[in-house]
Amino acid sequence: MANNLLKGKKGLIFGALDEHSIAWKIAEKAHAEGAEFVLSNSPIALRMKDIYQLAKKTNSQVIAADITEVSELEDLFEETMQILGGKIDFILHSVGMSPNVRKNIPYHELNYDYLEKTLDVSAISLHKVLAVAQRLDAINDWGSVVTLSYIAAQRTFSSYSDMAHAKAMLESIVRQFGYHYGVNKKIRINSISQSPTRTTAGAGVSGFNAFFHYADDMSPLGNATSDSCADVCVTMFSDYTKMITMQNIYNDGGFSSMGISNKLIEKFIDCGCKE
Ligand code: NAI
Repeated sequence: MANNLLKGKKGLIFGALDEHSIAWKIAEKAHAEGAEFVLSNSPIALRMKDIYQLAKKTNSQVIAADITEVSELEDLFEETMQILGGKIDFILHSVGMSPNVRKNIPYHELNYDYLEKTLDVSAISLHKVLAVAQRLDAINDWGSVVTLSYIAAQRTFSSYSDMAHAKAMLESIVRQFGYHYGVNKKIRINSISQSPTRTTAGAGVSGFNAFFHYADDMSPLGNATSDSCADVCVTMFSDYTKMITMQNIYNDGGFSSMGISNKLIEKFIDCGCKE
């Protein structure tokens, strides 16, 4: 169901690691909607080579960059503009990683060097991307930047650990930079808060299956898939959402408005728990 929503638009997509990545689905859909873009990921991720299949499928080039390194981002933006023949219209920031979560370190014993890494990769990197883009004047007026968040920015999910701090900071950068880039260049910046989704980053969170099924049972529409996230992203990159900026948009099947659902009541009513 392609509608040429992004015909003539150029972009830069961070974070497609393999076919399960949310960024992978977004790249496929952006391509189907007529966009041209460059794909970027860290040098380590590129060693997995999956991204080159996506590049072939979407007729795009791949450029390695560690998103935490400003000099690498500068080279990436220069090269991207050369490849695409000018400024870009959209950026997808779909990047996250916590060494504390990966290594299963309990929250009350966080390793602070790892915490800094979590914040740098998962939140401050958005600031770096935006700062470099603005300095190089790399985005056309009314361009759109989207990043991916999770509701742990607002509420406590016991095993989400320091990624919760990263998401809270990420959403704060969306609002702060959204103001400045909006005033300076009419660039809009938004986050999409996505349901639990089976990906490499998702599966790294301890108890991911419980996150997934609990959210699915709680949400009136069930969990939002990465395909549906791609639909929202494509719309956010299009000219139909020009006046939306500095927002956190829940693509979560209604989860964020729920307290308890009949499905969960039924599960607990006969659980044998004492009154
Ligand atoms: P993923 O593991 O496929 O994507 C994470 C990406 O970040 C990978 O491509 C990885 O190579 C990249 N990355 C890590 N360090 C990097 C660095 N230094 N430089 C450049 N790239 C780097 O997993 P997923 O789930 O697609 O994650 C994408 C975004 O969606 C993340 O921000 C994640 O927190 C967010 N999200 C995921 C949910 C889930 O349940 N999977 C739910 C809500 C949000």
